[in-house]
Amino acid sequence: MSSRPLVYVTRRVPQSGVDILRKTCDISQWNSDDPVPRDELLRNVEGKDALFCLLTDKIDKELLDRAGSKLRAVATMSVGYDHIDVVECSRRNISVGFTPDVLTSATAELTVSLLLATARRLKEGISAVKNGSWGTWKPLWLCGQGLDGATVGIVGLGRIGTAVAKRLQPFGVDKILYNDAIETKNAREVGAHFVSLDELLKNSDFVLCCCALTDENKGLFNEAAFSKMKKNAIFINTSRGGMVNQDALFKALSTGQIAGAGLDVTTPEPLPTNHPLLTLDNCIILPHIASATYKSRYAMSELTARNISAALQGQEMPCQVKL
Ligand code: DGY
Repeated sequence: MSSRPLVYVTRRVPQSGVDILRKTCDISQWNSDDPVPRDELLRNVEGKDALFCLLTDKIDKELLDRAGSKLRAVATMSVGYDHIDVVECSRRNISVGFTPDVLTSATAELTVSLLLATARRLKEGISAVKNGSWGTWKPLWLCGQGLDGATVGIVGLGRIGTAVAKRLQPFGVDKILYNDAIETKNAREVGAHFVSLDELLKNSDFVLCCCALTDENKGLFNEAAFSKMKKNAIFINTSRGGMVNQDALFKALSTGQIAGAGLDVTTPEPLPTNHPLLTLDNCIILPHIASATYKSRYAMSELTARNISAALQGQEMPCQVKL
């Protein structure tokens, strides 16, 4: 029997990550582009030394029990790790790895793209061209909101929020406000001002959700939050669907409480095709693709593998979750 560590990879992932692991580990893998069924995951994690997982895999007590005492590392190919019970992992001395930085640019670019597409009503424009409702040039037809002179409010000025702020500055924004658990040192770099959440919601023309989902901030964007926003506000979420109460968002968008929303993340994912939000012209929904550049996804796979390799050698992971 081989004495090499055993690693289970829960999906078909960019091969460069698997190649790194193969040098020192024996790999078994769910060889599909779709998530591994829970039963299959539970069966396959048994007796493994490490788990290479994705944001669609729930890593909870039940799974850790099934894995058994050999499990030393859980590494997710994502920056978000709200699907992992990190407290339980830490109690069992299991290192948890994630993939910050390597997806920051891609995610920030997509956030800006979604903001512009939503604010300038690109979905309605493209539909009009296709369905023949494009008539003559009309002075106020499909007018939207511009960034020049606008106030942008960013909830969560971490790596991604800061990268978004940097990319928005050249558009001539007037002010960048932010709210976070604490005032961050990144703020100075991008000239952002710390304000209360209420102030941010009341004063921003664009409200961007860029924070990590936690038990504390789940559903932060609820009816009360949308009711504080300006009527011309554009809301953008590239964080996690769980940040938003979607019924409240539907109400805010359909009653004109806010002007538009662009979401890269929803609850659930995929969003059922008969979901009310999909009936709205002023809501653009993307299928969770913020980090989807080849460069990022390969780098995420490689970093996940390097996280696992380090933990299996008894070292700190290059990107280890710290409690
Ligand atoms: C993440 O990494 O958490 C994103 O949601 C997907 O790249």
